[in-house]
Amino acid sequence: MSPEDLTATLSAAGALPERWAAVFRKVDRAGFVPARVWFDDEHGRPQPLDREGEPDRWRAAVYSDEPIVTQLDDGATAWPATSNAATSSASQPSMVLSMLDALLDEGHVQHGHKVLEIGTGTGYNAALLAHRFGEDLVTSVEVDPVLTEHARANLKAAGYAPTVVCADGTFGWPGTAPYDRIISTAAVIAGCLPYAWVEQTRPGGLILTPWGTAYHNGALVRLCVRGDGTATGKVIGNAAFMRLRGQRTPFGHAARLGDLVDASPTAVESTAGVPPSEVVTGDGAFSVGLHLPDVQCGIFPEADGRYEVLLYHVATESAATVQVTPPDSAEGHHPVRQHGPRKLWSEAENAHRWWVERDKPARSRFGLTITPTEQRLWLDEPSTTVSQW
Ligand SMILES: C[S@@+](CC[C@H](N)C(=O)[O-])C[C@H]1O[C@@H](n2cnc3c(N)ncnc32)[C@H](O)[C@@H]1O
Repeated sequence: MSPEDLTATLSAAGALPERWAAVFRKVDRAGFVPARVWFDDEHGRPQPLDREGEPDRWRAAVYSDEPIVTQLDDGATAWPATSNAATSSASQPSMVLSMLDALLDEGHVQHGHKVLEIGTGTGYNAALLAHRFGEDLVTSVEVDPVLTEHARANLKAAGYAPTVVCADGTFGWPGTAPYDRIISTAAVIAGCLPYAWVEQTRPGGLILTPWGTAYHNGALVRLCVRGDGTATGKVIGNAAFMRLRGQRTPFGHAARLGDLVDASPTAVESTAGVPPSEVVTGDGAFSVGLHLPDVQCGIFPEADGRYEVLLYHVATESAATVQVTPPDSAEGHHPVRQHGPRKLWSEAENAHRWWVERDKPARSRFGLTITPTEQRLWLDEPSTTVSQW
């Protein structure tokens, strides 16, 4: 496998935007992926992979359109041990490219734009930004000191010298502000988009970030900053990213709360009144998540296309399961058990009803407005508020 293979894969998929193709060909992903990484198996579980031991598999991973996990549990899980808590990765190349393309205005090629990246990770995206915008105009912030050092070394070896800072990107980076573009490669949780990013962006500048709820991860949001200190814009795509460190949802409770529902003598039993897949996947899940932003949602595949849905809320120890058997669009045949003070599946069905009553809007019809005092999610027009934080 070679860089050309990755270029060919992306071109064939229509995922190599013309405006980034030349830059993409110049920066070799292999220079940024560590020798020892984790690559997801078919169940999505990160498995150790070593360049020395398995050079062909390592290169195949590097030149695939897949994310590669570079850190677990903030570094506490040492390679080759594994866990499900990926805390840094080399993002999926097609996602990197679609985000980079969304940074450029329609039809324009900008010169002299100053860019801030949040989440340096391996330094690969920072290299692409430095190549495109000029290294003097790019600052990248990484919260983890070990990752910061690796990224600096990777960038130096590849011949790029953007400013790389070890800091909490929740505060942006005032040192080189104001910026024309802020791009976050870590997700923000609904209601918590750092206002510092708005303050540090010039009027007319753009903020691009993955955005989601505990329930649904996530959407890609692009906001334009205005002279009055507000920022507004729409959901422009999908983007499932790891969250900013300070905004993570509780981790590691799914198995315990799933067992609690199974064993609960007081669980309320019923059957699903709506197609479960619409509640837990796609635009339906995005929309349901707006109404249940603090509820977590897991989908656990079983044999023959069956799967279990688990909704849970750690603070109240509430949980609900749905056993789904295909066709999952059929209503009324999927057993539901709900445990705890919140009846989470009932709440999710109500939120699903809200979505159906509005003709099942796609996520691209939603937008976000950020002011110094509030964050609002709206449908179609900024005046049609759906959720407010
Ligand atoms: C998906 S990775 C970024 C990938 C990276 N852009 C690349 O090209 O390799 C997300 C990164 O965000 C970092 N991160 C998480 N929270 C952060 C924060 N509050 N400030 C800065 N970086 C943060 C993580 O440590 C992780 O390295």
